[in-house]
Amino acid sequence: MIKYSQNTITSLNIKLMETKLFLEKFKNFSVQDFEHLTYAMIKPDAVVAKEEIIHDIESRGFTVLFETNRQFSEELARNFYSEHNGKSFFEGLVQQMTSGPVVVLILQKMGEIPCFQAWRNELGATDPAKAAEGTLRNVYTHKLFGGPEAYLERRATNCFHGADSVASVIRESNLVLYDIAMS
Ligand code: CMP
Repeated sequence: MIKYSQNTITSLNIKLMETKLFLEKFKNFSVQDFEHLTYAMIKPDAVVAKEEIIHDIESRGFTVLFETNRQFSEELARNFYSEHNGKSFFEGLVQQMTSGPVVVLILQKMGEIPCFQAWRNELGATDPAKAAEGTLRNVYTHKLFGGPEAYLERRATNCFHGADSVASVIRESNLVLYDIAMS
C-alpha cells in the first residue's frame, strides 16, 4: 500500500517535470517548427483505449512530443471550439468534450506535407460513418463501439480531434498549454 502511494507520487512528479520542460521548449517553437507539429486529442469516450491508440499513432509515423490527460472546463471547451458556436451540434460537442478527461497530444511528423494534414489523413472524415477503412476514426469506432452507426446512436462524437491548419495548431496548442500552465 505504501509502495503504491510512493510510486504514484513519484510518477506524478515525473509527469509534472516533463510537463514543465515541454512548456519551456514550446515557448521557443518557431512557425517553421509548427509545420511539423500538430495539436491532437483523444476525446473522452475513446480515452479508455489510450495505450493502444498511442501505440497505433506511433506506428503511423508520428512522434508523441507531449501527452497528458486533461479535464476540459466548460469555458475552455467553448473557447476551443468557438468557431462552431451557434451551430446545431455546438452544445452537444461542449457537453461531450467536458464529460471526462481528454488526452492532449502534441505530435510531430517530418515530411513533405504539413503534420496537421498528415494527422487528418490518418483520422479520416469528421463523420466516423464516412471515415475510410483503416483510418483512426473508422478503426476505433468499430473497436470501441461496434461501428460508426452504433457510436453515433450513442450521441458520441468522433473519437479524435485534429487541428485543421498550421494557424489552428498554433492557436489550439497555445490555448490548451496555457490552461495547463496556469493550473
Ligand atoms: P473535431 O475534429 O474535434 O472538430 C470539430 C468537431 O465538431 C468535430 O470534430 C465533431 O466532433 C464536431 N462536428 C463537426 N461537424 C459536425 C456535424 N455536422 N455534426 C455533429 N458534430 C460535428
